[in-house]
Amino acid sequence: MHVHVSGHPVVAAKLSLLRNKDTSSKEVRGLVHELGLLLAYEATADLPLRRDKELMSPLSRYTSDVIKKRVALVPVLRSGLSLVESLLSFLPDSRVLHLGLYREKMTLEPVEYYNKLPQEPNVDVCFILDPMIATGGTAIAVVNMLKDWGIPGHSIKFIAICASREGVQHLSSMHSDIHLYTAAIDDVLDSHGYILPGLGDCGDRLYDTT
Ligand code: URA
Repeated sequence: MHVHVSGHPVVAAKLSLLRNKDTSSKEVRGLVHELGLLLAYEATADLPLRRDKELMSPLSRYTSDVIKKRVALVPVLRSGLSLVESLLSFLPDSRVLHLGLYREKMTLEPVEYYNKLPQEPNVDVCFILDPMIATGGTAIAVVNMLKDWGIPGHSIKFIAICASREGVQHLSSMHSDIHLYTAAIDDVLDSHGYILPGLGDCGDRLYDTT
């Protein structure tokens, strides 16, 4: 797997604020959005351009550039929703294809409950949005769904705020061809599937639920 851990100091500083248990839900949403913008900047850096129309600036003619590929954002419900607006700021013409998976409490295995992929793959590049990669089980299941749909691994980019080392290794062992963009890889995954130090339960912190 092509793993890109951001080395940007602003990412590290914002992630530190996000980890703090005293950061409010409103602040968590703001920080996740901002980290999403910073990771989106890195994850979109190699998108190819197409020369488009001839237009006029106030002073002369120029040829405009547009993003060549058809892009889908694939938020994993529910916490993946928190990254959608960040990516749309960069790629406003993207389709948004929601997938719903939850981790079964005892086995920690992903269970699919919502799938908004159309019948035919009508995009070239998919950005999977999920703030956390813990065991890697959900991430693997989502990549499987996109590959089964017809998207090649090299066109799948996973954006996560924080991943566990074990989860990254697990995902990489199943999908060595995808790209992962994250702010941090943490060393510990506890027996309940939580990342340490991590962020806690990201969905609960975003939406102030327990
Ligand atoms: N999901 C979360 O929200 N937090 C974790 O630590 C692991 C999975």
